[in-house]
Amino acid sequence: MAGLEWSEALALELPAMDEVHQEFVLLLAAVQEAADGQLAGRWEELISHTQMHFDQEDRWMQSTGFSSGNCHSLQHKVVLQVMREGAAKAAAGELAVIRSMASELAAWFVHHAQTMDAALALHLRSAGFDPATGALAHPEALPGQVITGCGGACDSSAERAHAVPA
Ligand SMILES: [Fe+2]
Ligand SMILES: [Fe+2]
Repeated sequence: MAGLEWSEALALELPAMDEVHQEFVLLLAAVQEAADGQLAGRWEELISHTQMHFDQEDRWMQSTGFSSGNCHSLQHKVVLQVMREGAAKAAAGELAVIRSMASELAAWFVHHAQTMDAALALHLRSAGFDPATGALAHPEALPGQVITGCGGACDSSAERAHAVPA
């Protein structure tokens, strides 16, 4: 899948999350359009942004009742690890690895946003979570037990994470 573009199909009605996702889409497009000489640098920029993006979602999950080892956070970890392996390959001159990975990452992102991130956005909205302050308007809406799943999208999404080529 090439040429990922932002669309309303990716919007999750949580502006703080949507803004970061729009930035991700732009940075990934910049990778996909890069000439060979720009490719590794743009990939590094995407990795830095993705670390921030995933860390932020992981913090939101941990402050609203998710376990640190929940499947959404684990998927973030796997994807970043694969991206870093791509950076190492690019440093060794294997640029084709990143080009292939970027295409897989575009397909992965659409699925991830529409399943795990959509479930997280719904969870945060229902608890009245304010991303700017971490305040919860409706803490009573959070479940009484630690959340280890991610809203029903775990199995298929986990498989797709592992499908990103190493
Ligand atoms: Fe996300
Ligand atoms: Fe996510």
